[in-house]
Amino acid sequence: MPMATSADMTATEPKTAKLVVEGKLVIEGLGKRYGATTALEPSSLSVAEGEFLTLLGPSGSGKTTLLQLICGLVEASEGRVVIDGRDQSATPVHQRDIGLVFQHYALFPHLTVAENIAFPLKMRGRPGSEVASRVSATLEMVHLGHLAGRFPRELSGGQQQRVALARCFVYQPSIILMDEPLGALDKKLREHMQIEIKRLHRESGATIVYVTHDQEEALAMSDRICLMNHARIEQLGTPREIYERPRTAFAADFIGISNIFRGRWDGNGAIDTAHGRFALPSGARCQSKDATLVIRPENLRLGARDDNAVNGRVSEVVYAGSETRVIAALDDGSPLVLRLGPDDLVPAIDERIVAGWSRDKAVLVA
Ligand SMILES: Nc1ncnc2c1ncn2[C@@H]1O[C@H](COP(=O)(O)OP(=O)(O)OP(=O)(O)O)[C@@H](O)[C@H]1O
Ligand SMILES: [Mg+2]
Repeated sequence: MPMATSADMTATEPKTAKLVVEGKLVIEGLGKRYGATTALEPSSLSVAEGEFLTLLGPSGSGKTTLLQLICGLVEASEGRVVIDGRDQSATPVHQRDIGLVFQHYALFPHLTVAENIAFPLKMRGRPGSEVASRVSATLEMVHLGHLAGRFPRELSGGQQQRVALARCFVYQPSIILMDEPLGALDKKLREHMQIEIKRLHRESGATIVYVTHDQEEALAMSDRICLMNHARIEQLGTPREIYERPRTAFAADFIGISNIFRGRWDGNGAIDTAHGRFALPSGARCQSKDATLVIRPENLRLGARDDNAVNGRVSEVVYAGSETRVIAALDDGSPLVLRLGPDDLVPAIDERIVAGWSRDKAVLVA
């Protein structure tokens, strides 16, 4: 018997998140340990019928583990998965009403596109006429009708991935889990496939749990994002909530670009930082003496018109088509990123600038 680790000790304490919310898919205190490694801290979460939920987080944060627990490929150390109000603990993978799509779509190389897509229906013993009609409808849905007779090796990466999607959607599981399904594709194709997946989602009405570590992909595709870090759920919310109201410095830093100022709370409405005293958002109160303020690049303005300001020297101007970003070095060398407004003059490299923000455009995070 191995010695109890600190992870074991916390797991035996009463679980805090006991929230039992109704939903298509509910996880309650679900956790996974591999020996001394905690792959997922006991976590709770509810996914609504037809929702597109994205698990987003850095490598090793527990995203794949959570998917594996939901579909039953891996046995939970604690907690449970509930689908349509029924505990799935005793239900084997193939009997759960779940479809899976992974990054390395293992298509059968000796079967044609149509035969690959027919496979899950045949496995389920569906009659031949139903197989034929479903396969042709699904081929149309993923725009592959003209390639039905080809073998996987005769397809591009994007086409192969569409076959993998079709093979999942064809048997109409009510929940679909996707683990970085676009990870192997180039940027252009990725963006195209994002739109395809959103369309399939709309047309099928399926509940989707989607894994990515690409924050732009998560923002663009999701009804809600479940941000994960260190085997825990860091924040759960709509893309807008997480972007505009990050709860922690990690969330602010991981999603979008953030300027982060750490300082000491003055006990009132301001914090003292290495770059000056900054007013907190109206009504904001700090949890402790140490406080962290986040300001997005689009909320900084050139000039000292606002209630807070910092000085810097321009080190980089990045023209990105639809916007121009300025990166400046603050006095201690740390970077400041601001997005220019349409009327702003583009400053020169090495020019000294003042960047300001109105107090309510900043977010106080934990
Ligand atoms: N079978 C296993 N045995 C031991 N440790 C494991 C096992 N599977 C996962 N882990 C560990 O659990 C943690 C979470 O892994 P997981 O695969 O869920 O991360 P992830 O968020 O999917 O990362 P990535 O973005 O790299 O795919 C990692 O520290 C990993 O090393
Ligand atoms: Mg993974």
